[in-house]
Amino acid sequence: MNKPKVVVTRRWPAEVETQLQALYDVQLNESDVPMSADELKHALQTADALLTTVTDPITADVLNTPNKRARIIGQFGVGYNNIDIQTAKAQGLTVTNTPHVLDDCTADIAMLLLLMSARRASEAERMVRAGQWTGWTPTQLLGQKVTGKTLGLIGFGRIAQAMAKKAHYGFGMNILFYVPRSTPEQHIIDDLQATRCASIEDLLAQADFVSLHCPGGEATKRLINETRLKLMRPTAHLINTARGDVVDSEALIKALKEGWIAGAGLDVFEGEPHLDPEFLTLDNATLLPHLGSASHETRTAMGNRVIANIGEFFAGREPSDRVA
Ligand code: DGY
Repeated sequence: MNKPKVVVTRRWPAEVETQLQALYDVQLNESDVPMSADELKHALQTADALLTTVTDPITADVLNTPNKRARIIGQFGVGYNNIDIQTAKAQGLTVTNTPHVLDDCTADIAMLLLLMSARRASEAERMVRAGQWTGWTPTQLLGQKVTGKTLGLIGFGRIAQAMAKKAHYGFGMNILFYVPRSTPEQHIIDDLQATRCASIEDLLAQADFVSLHCPGGEATKRLINETRLKLMRPTAHLINTARGDVVDSEALIKALKEGWIAGAGLDVFEGEPHLDPEFLTLDNATLLPHLGSASHETRTAMGNRVIANIGEFFAGREPSDRVA
């Protein structure tokens, strides 16, 4: 029997690509250049499975390509706001993602950004690298203490909970969270001695650090806007490891310039990788290039999760991580 044909849109860790090649008729993307809309359409017409990442806009236009052969899109990532999920559903396409395996690594990056922003680590490193460090002084680069402060999490899914654990048990932080609908299990709330806030506004007013953990997409677009940034404390820091478009960048730049908040730690950006150049001029912005899940272990685990999902699909079973 012929092996199913699989197109992988970006380079994956070598051991996962090797595993895919053993199982399928695979087209890899040796150049690692993101595929164009036409290339994605062609892949949907010629492959049984298309394996995508956050950098592939799988729009209605792409999905509406005629004579599609692909029946499954295996997203390498937990977020899938790059895929027009309604259109995929309407077409009966199966879409899977890679939850669980990246929770800790993404929470680690959120904690890293929180610490870097609070303690002005980027600014300090720039000073050392520029040869401008003239020695210790009692008042140089004073930041904010993290231990014992209040962390407010917007969204309280697995990644937020992993961050809350690190913050609460590692740094003695008080945990606030806001979720619009679902109710987290009581034992999780109790373990973290966490407090649920009735509104985002309520959380913003109380938190020393605000970390975003909601999915991207229309429902959360620019959730953090000028009005909400103004509710944060002038000593507070905003951390975003979720999706860039959850924050109104123009408003955030204003907030950082005018001191409405003390700092921001950002791993994701509106229109990334083309971030607003104003961010580069701000000493109180810590900027990372979407590194949330970027560890060898996690990226390999994500690839293995995609392999498991498409394996289940081709075996006629329901994939474990089906989102459409
Ligand atoms: C995720 O898994 O959602 C990461 O942000 C990469 O897409």
